[in-house]
Amino acid sequence: MKSLRNKTDKVIQLPEPASDGGMSVEAALAKRESVRHFTSVPLTLSLLSQILWAAQGITRNWGGRTAPSAGALYPLELYLALLDGFFHYIPRNHQLMHISESNFIEDLAAVALGQQCIRESSAVVVIAAVYKRIEQKYGRRGERYVKVEAGHAAQNILLQAVSQGIGAVPVGAFYEDVRMVLSLPSDHEPLYLIPLGHTRK
Ligand SMILES: Cc1cc2nc3c(=O)[nH]c(=O)nc-3n(C[C@H](O)[C@H](O)[C@H](O)COP(=O)(O)O)c2cc1C
Repeated sequence: MKSLRNKTDKVIQLPEPASDGGMSVEAALAKRESVRHFTSVPLTLSLLSQILWAAQGITRNWGGRTAPSAGALYPLELYLALLDGFFHYIPRNHQLMHISESNFIEDLAAVALGQQCIRESSAVVVIAAVYKRIEQKYGRRGERYVKVEAGHAAQNILLQAVSQGIGAVPVGAFYEDVRMVLSLPSDHEPLYLIPLGHTRK
């Protein structure tokens, strides 16, 4: 894969995601399992594009996305930690905003109880919640909605990974320090880490 770090501009246009092809939902459901061992071969930009689109891509003219959202308020933000940098996904234009040239994967593994599945992965999707977007309308109920929505987005990633022939595992065992490691805004709370990669048998 062309190194993302060599891009001079801060915004990377992702390749157009496919909206057909791949395998049936039934086949993906039947094949899905947590994969925790990966080769060191990085994922292509096309694969990453497909994974991010599956989680939060825009599929409707009015802004509707691949995953449902209570009140269509979209309180999730996706970040992507790669071997050659750290990125923020912008659903509106299906772009990645380049935030840092640092490889945070080892640091993420450290604050996730040293989990080897993160250490071995070449890409980690971080699903973060911005509660204030939804609590204005739903009050305390909003927190529950955000967490349910993160599950929708995560499952989309897991099924899309199966369909693309790559491995993934949802990781919830990590400390609050994830936010600090990634220098996320104070109102972005990491909810889920999803390390991905080519499966090592
Ligand atoms: C909320 C949640 C948190 C999880 N956290 C971790 C984790 O931190 N590390 C890990 O290796 N697997 C984690 N898993 C994956 C489960 O261990 C896995 O789904 C379970 O063992 C069933 O296996 P399967 O996914 O292959 O069906 C998590 C799953 C869920 C739903």
